[in-house]
Amino acid sequence: MIEKTLAIIKPDAVKNNVIGEILSMITKAGFKVLGMRYTKINKEQAGAFYEVHKEMPFYADLVEYMSSGAIVPVALEKENAIGDFRKLIGSTDPAQADEGTVRKLYGESKSYNAIHGSDSAENGLIEIGFFFSKSEIVLSN
Ligand code: CMP
Repeated sequence: MIEKTLAIIKPDAVKNNVIGEILSMITKAGFKVLGMRYTKINKEQAGAFYEVHKEMPFYADLVEYMSSGAIVPVALEKENAIGDFRKLIGSTDPAQADEGTVRKLYGESKSYNAIHGSDSAENGLIEIGFFFSKSEIVLSN
């Protein structure tokens, strides 16, 4: 099934100057870019984006970190996008991630793990809607 997922290149990866390397891995893996932005979100926006984690002990740090610097949200489409993207980026904890995955290569820790990917097709659409208006999504190029 063709699915959509939202990737976010996180502040640590932007600061480490690896936006291009990560985008290259994503497009080489066959993902089609539907939309892309370079932006910075405030604490309120980061809190809303990660609201599902609000009871977790790491929530406050996550919100602080995701609003600490520029990020690159990218709307992506592919057959089996959710599963394939999660395979491409690897486990949440870079130390546990498979060799060659984005998090293994560019993540530093569970908190500073370089990239986000949606965890379901339903959330992919919701998360894309968080960062992109309909007119910013290009379905056919
Ligand atoms: P992400 O894919 O963006 O989704 C939720 C984020 O919460 C996750 O990546 C991590 O950056 C962060 N996270 C998840 N579990 C932990 C944890 N145990 N400690 C710190 N941060 C975490």
